[in-house]
Amino acid sequence: MISFEQSIAAAVAKTGTFLEEEVLQLLTVPQETTHGNFSLPCFALAKKLRKAPKIIAETLATEIELPQGISKVEPINGYLNFFIERSFLATSVLTQIEEKGLNYGHASSNNKTVIIDFSSPNIGKELAFHHLRSTMIGNSLSRIYKANGYRVERINHLGDWGTAFGKLIVMYLREGGSLEEEALDQLTVKELNLLYSSFSKISKENPELENEARAAFTKLEEGDSLYRKLWSAFKKATLKELMRIYSMMGVSFDHYIGESFFEDKIPAVLDELREKKLLVKSQELDVVMLNDFDLPPCLIRKSDGSTLYATRDLAAALYRKKEFQFSKCLYVVDLGQSLHFKQVFHVLKKMDYEWYQDMYHIPFGVILQQTEEGKWEKGKTRSGTASLLRDVIEAAKEKILTFINEKNPELENKEEIATQIGISALTFNDLKNRRLMDVKFDWDSALSFDGATGPYVQNAHVRLCSIMRKAAYTAKIEDVSWDTLTDDAAYELIKVLSRKGNNIAKACETDEPSTLAQYALEIAEAAHRFIHQDRVLGSAEEKSRLYLVQATQIVLENVLDLLGLFPIRQM
Ligand code: ARG
Repeated sequence: MISFEQSIAAAVAKTGTFLEEEVLQLLTVPQETTHGNFSLPCFALAKKLRKAPKIIAETLATEIELPQGISKVEPINGYLNFFIERSFLATSVLTQIEEKGLNYGHASSNNKTVIIDFSSPNIGKELAFHHLRSTMIGNSLSRIYKANGYRVERINHLGDWGTAFGKLIVMYLREGGSLEEEALDQLTVKELNLLYSSFSKISKENPELENEARAAFTKLEEGDSLYRKLWSAFKKATLKELMRIYSMMGVSFDHYIGESFFEDKIPAVLDELREKKLLVKSQELDVVMLNDFDLPPCLIRKSDGSTLYATRDLAAALYRKKEFQFSKCLYVVDLGQSLHFKQVFHVLKKMDYEWYQDMYHIPFGVILQQTEEGKWEKGKTRSGTASLLRDVIEAAKEKILTFINEKNPELENKEEIATQIGISALTFNDLKNRRLMDVKFDWDSALSFDGATGPYVQNAHVRLCSIMRKAAYTAKIEDVSWDTLTDDAAYELIKVLSRKGNNIAKACETDEPSTLAQYALEIAEAAHRFIHQDRVLGSAEEKSRLYLVQATQIVLENVLDLLGLFPIRQM
């Protein structure tokens, strides 16, 4: 089936002004309803034709032969706007949804691979509330890239190496932790977290503990078997809890390749840096100078020979390129690490790897919570400590459960549904604004069923599903009489549905899940208007209206899924 864009491009090309490809590139979908369904900006041609864009648009309007399905064109201020005939739009959009189902609006494969490094927490610590951001932005981006035609490799670059492990080992042994297999198997991340805090406390009074920890890490690096055993146990305990939370959140990875994996790949990186004459000594450290890019030196190796975070990221980048031949590699990591990624990318540039240009840091802002005095602060709860993600999820679930118990106590699987609504609410709150903005978190606005929230968009989906359930039959496309889907509410809804592909592409190109979060709100609002304007079941046009409800449900279900929200059917 030829798209509107293609037939518009062909019609414009026939006038001899723009080329077809130019039109396809320039055509946009205006946000304002009054500006039609497609808009062609004529500014690009002004120079070539030596005419004002306004004149070009006006001339085009008189010369163009309207393609099928376009009811009129209108020149406004250098733009030529195209208006689609309502019933034609309905046929075209709903037929495509019928054909493609949940994949409607997805792009076909582009044979490109994107790597998305996200969540990537440190071993030995519990996930904190702020880890939600990388986890959910990365999760959504991985779904969006896939829908936009990419092969996606989701990587969890676990922080499972470094002096932190020296601290844990020292503390574990100092507190007389058991070395029995069984006891090590029972270790929990909660206990590890406590070891960390006691280390910080005790080392304030006994600064020599820091040296002990460094020595312990060196011993670990050298392969000491007891230390390796403890390290594995710490990692296993942390992963157990991580997996529990990821599975609850519906998040998965293709690879868990932690920093430790690169230990034996580092000598080769150091050799290469030396060979390329990039490694220099600076105050006992091996560094790569980056002053030609106005950046501080990138630290590669400490005086005791141990390597650093950046060294491991360099090794990881080289490994990823070789292993996956990516055309893009994204690091979904908070804004605070901007300098680190700039340095790593520029070292790759100095190593003459052209593909350093395909590496992208995808930064995001912080989660702010309100203090007792009403001030918005980073990473602190009212009690003054950072909150754990599992506690926040649990609290969200409990609040939603209370609500369900009031409204619909008979609901089946209500615990599970409450968890899914709770997590989706947290996720939506995180994704609804552009990712660089800080997220102001407060329970009432995140969990509300009104306004720009997760529960609101999920509820719209539930309502569509409930109409479908009540109908107890599936409307068929053959039963649709297209002329009955041309009233304002139906037309507006169909127009919203028609934008799915555009929005996926835009979200992907800008690495902004917020585009789809805003789109989910638009669908929910247009669907509510359609349902409220006139009944669906029992109306004279029941089959046609029900068909539109079904199509909307399919689009919304997939958009929720692309955001990483649970498209629940009943609440
Ligand atoms: N583990 C790091 C942290 O918690 C984030 C790692 C991000 N990914 C990377 N390749 N550096 O801060």
